[in-house]
Amino acid sequence: MTAEPTGDEHRHGGHRHDGLADGTTVAEYWERRYRDAGPVWSGRPNAALVAVAPPAAGIAVDLACGEGGDAVWLAEQGWRVVAVDISATAVDRGRAAAAERGLGDAIDWVVADLAEWEAPDGLALVSACFLQSTVELDRIGILRRAAAHVAVGGHLLTVAHAAMPPWSPHAGDSGITPETELADLDLDPAAWSVEIAELRDRAATGPGGETATLTDSVVLLRRTA
Ligand SMILES: C[S@@+](CC[C@H](N)C(=O)[O-])C[C@H]1O[C@@H](n2cnc3c(N)ncnc32)[C@H](O)[C@@H]1O
Repeated sequence: MTAEPTGDEHRHGGHRHDGLADGTTVAEYWERRYRDAGPVWSGRPNAALVAVAPPAAGIAVDLACGEGGDAVWLAEQGWRVVAVDISATAVDRGRAAAAERGLGDAIDWVVADLAEWEAPDGLALVSACFLQSTVELDRIGILRRAAAHVAVGGHLLTVAHAAMPPWSPHAGDSGITPETELADLDLDPAAWSVEIAELRDRAATGPGGETATLTDSVVLLRRTA
């Protein structure tokens, strides 16, 4: 999966400012994080996305696309993709990976703060894999706003670390489970049906080559009205 190596991500309600005591903005924090390292993620799509993504059906938005592993995979499945991340370096890496695979026309790459970015209407899929951060992030607000742009018949997928990797400085429960996710999203049950709400284990390799079984919270909702 793409979001393995550092595990330096964390659920929070969006009002912490860890890592920003020096005045660094959220955008600068993530940009440095990518710029100061080679590829941060594996480039492969996240396992949960591959396992549960619905068949291609129009436009998919990849929220916090990072270096684009998921966006590229979605495009390979036939989706038209809008891939958004706050880091220009991460987005550039995704764009280059897509161009290498001849997918340049299938993905719109957007550098934006999701706190302000507005998705297009009529989406068939909103995918948010590891939209988690140790610094300020209104995760649920972003997810709820994006959900409003999903067309009837479309899907919202959230994949999150339920437990942070053992090699993470934040090892331990993230606070996210399928139950908290559904409760926090608080979507109208008359307009959304829950297709998947489960914990999924997967094997992962840490930055030092150590292996562990990680548990993801996976929630797939379908807009019905
Ligand atoms: C844990 S990474 C996950 C990346 C990718 N989805 C994956 O699975 O590999 C979190 C991503 O969120 C992005 N991010 C954090 N805050 C953001 C914001 N406010 N707006 C847009 N992207 C943001 C970071 O740049 C980073 O790429």
